[in-house]
Amino acid sequence: MSDYDYFKSERLVYRPFQLDDLQAYVAMCNEGSRRRWFYFQEPACLTEEFWVKEFEQIRAVWSRKVHLLEERAGCGLAVTLKETGDLIGFVALTKFHGPDEELKDVEIGYHIGEAYQGHGYGTEAAKAAVEWGIAHLLQRGAEPKIVGKAEHENVPSRRVLEKAGFRYAHAEQYVSVYELLAT
Ligand SMILES: CC(C)(COP(=O)(O)OP(=O)(O)OC[C@H]1O[C@@H](n2cnc3c(N)ncnc32)[C@H](O)[C@@H]1OP(=O)(O)O)[C@@H](O)C(=O)NCCC(=O)NCCS
Repeated sequence: MSDYDYFKSERLVYRPFQLDDLQAYVAMCNEGSRRRWFYFQEPACLTEEFWVKEFEQIRAVWSRKVHLLEERAGCGLAVTLKETGDLIGFVALTKFHGPDEELKDVEIGYHIGEAYQGHGYGTEAAKAAVEWGIAHLLQRGAEPKIVGKAEHENVPSRRVLEKAGFRYAHAEQYVSVYELLAT
């Protein structure tokens, strides 16, 4: 692990995934509240084999000086409780979906396990990621803009975006698109 400054917030600690997170995180990925909105994912994306590789990519990203606009693996971190160290979810900023698909804007993504939902952790993690991401973009002279997308009916996710300071921008076929542009 590098000495890079991860995002920080009041009740949560953000860190790269470790191998001993694997069982707990894969179990969270298989919960109904996540599968409902990630219905398009291949079954292979819900396995330990898949997440071992993802964890490696995430650790590789954070082991060097991160450049959000160039990281093809996405800048994701495990979300853990400061008090107990429990793994509760995942938060990420990404400019690429896979090695070839560059997105127009940096996008935020997040997931909180069912046992921990409803305590404001999703909102807290999104706020921390956005604050870090905007500062990061400004330092690099890039447009300080982050986009969030949630399925129209995914009210919890839309509320996370609204409470983290995003404003509704427009609707696409399946998703509502929100933007946060720092002034
Ligand atoms: C979206 C998600 C991260 C929210 O996490 P969370 O920690 O529960 O979020 P918060 O506690 O900050 O609450 C945000 C909103 O979620 C909703 N919510 C929270 N707990 C809920 C519950 N038990 N039942 C229904 N809605 C709930 C509320 O609308 C809340 O907004 P409000 O406070 O204005 O009422 C979480 O539900 C999740 O991981 N869902 C599955 C993955 C997903 O959809 N990711 C986003 C893809 S775009």
